[in-house]
Amino acid sequence: MSERHPSAPSDTSPPGGERRRLHGGKPVGIALLGCGTVGGGVLTLLARERERLAARVGAPLEVRRVLVRDPKKVRVEACDVRWVTTDVDAVMSDPEVELVVEVMGGEGLAGDLVERALRAGKSVVTANKALLAARGKQLFALAAEHRADLGFEAAVGGGIPIIRALRDQLAGDRVERLFGILNGTSNFVLTQMTELGQGFAEALADAQARGYAEADPTLDVGGFDAAHKLLVLATLAFGAEVTEGEIAIEGIRELEAADIEHARRLGYVVKHLVVGRDHGDAIELRVHPTLIPRSSVLANVSGVLNAVKIEGAALGPCVLSGRGAGDLPTAVSVVADVIDVSRAIVAGAPGLVTRSVAIARRPLRAAGLTEVRWYLRFPVADRPGVIAKLAAALGDAGVSIEQIEQGPPPAEGDAPVDVVIVTRTAREDAIRRALAAIELGAIEGQPFVRRAPRALRIEEP
Ligand code: NAP
Ligand code: HSE
Repeated sequence: MSERHPSAPSDTSPPGGERRRLHGGKPVGIALLGCGTVGGGVLTLLARERERLAARVGAPLEVRRVLVRDPKKVRVEACDVRWVTTDVDAVMSDPEVELVVEVMGGEGLAGDLVERALRAGKSVVTANKALLAARGKQLFALAAEHRADLGFEAAVGGGIPIIRALRDQLAGDRVERLFGILNGTSNFVLTQMTELGQGFAEALADAQARGYAEADPTLDVGGFDAAHKLLVLATLAFGAEVTEGEIAIEGIRELEAADIEHARRLGYVVKHLVVGRDHGDAIELRVHPTLIPRSSVLANVSGVLNAVKIEGAALGPCVLSGRGAGDLPTAVSVVADVIDVSRAIVAGAPGLVTRSVAIARRPLRAAGLTEVRWYLRFPVADRPGVIAKLAAALGDAGVSIEQIEQGPPPAEGDAPVDVVIVTRTAREDAIRRALAAIELGAIEGQPFVRRAPRALRIEEP
């Protein structure tokens, strides 16, 4: 007579006909914190792939509780109304819940509940990069202390397996550089603006309607979400603990259609890029809109797609790309963690994977020392001598010019014209000195720069 749990699928026994009952024949009890875009995708996948997942884990996965603020907002077919609750304590104190899936977002309550679960020895899977960027080190330490796992594949790159790649596959190599397009919303907005000529506000509203954006989209278009993801990658790629306030973050809000158009004419595409480099004595981390050559592998990563290019000392370059946001792509990563963590629970050995994450403080290279080529756009008065003044200020700061272009004469009498300059490799502090001098510059007592210049870095990922 089989001793299988009544809700178990038809065959979850281990290969080879082994009769030993894994996990006492019980299902793995799961609670979801949140049932929005990602939570809904997770419940859909868990229902759709139920039998296959149970066979992989060696025990069925049983959703017991789903925490939300407003049960009336839950519109997920795969969500049984009996699971839904607003009672935090009912979720956290259920002894049958062994795995907590945090997909509610935010740092306050979400962080407190993740801590509470780990302290109780329950493993956690989270998609919350803001939380990891703010409290990752403490959470990893808690997980290790209480022999629980903390899975976070969905926190970076949506459905792309970048966390596993860095933590496991590349563990034997040293990452020297990484470049990433890591915010699906920003990449979608830039693609809509570049390819369809859509306005910023309209493109952002479209991204929100598709479930790509954060509850507060400033996190996306302000560059903060990509920065959180870079901080998470830096823990794995460089073993570095860095806080958000330590790195320079620029978003896409300030970009103008003119920059996208000038970049296109010069043979570049504008992408919101994260950059990480290990210089040995210090690491360099940056997040900003960037010109990259149209021939670059990252230039064709469009719409909601994300991509990460890693350069390992032994491996050389390696590129991962896929859908970086949205319900089902993100759910694929959450469910991958659910499988791994559940397997560890079933085998009676949770916490082993998470204990391989080692983080320490590492010095950050000052932003002023960054060396790249630059795209500079100066909306200037259309007067003789302006280009000479620009060139002189750059020269005085030690910046060499590679290319210079002036737009056609203004349609209206006194309107500014764009002068676009591409520099040779220059240090960021030199560029800042030159821009400050140019903004103060005058010809015959009149300032010749009409609006703030734009400075964008050029990278060749
Ligand atoms: P969402 O659609 O806004 O869903 C959030 C869910 O959490 C809702 O069910 C909400 O309940 C619940 N919730 C929020 N605050 C709560 C509270 N104080 N108490 C109880 N329930 C609360 O968010 P999402 O897009 O799924 O994102 C969730 C997490 O995944 C975030 O950390 C996000 O950064 C991350 N993520 C998202 C994506 C994506 O493509 N969307 C991709 C990767 C990672 P109510 O509806 O009742 O308020
Ligand atoms: N808001 C995020 C993005 C979701 O647009 O990339 C995925 O992390």
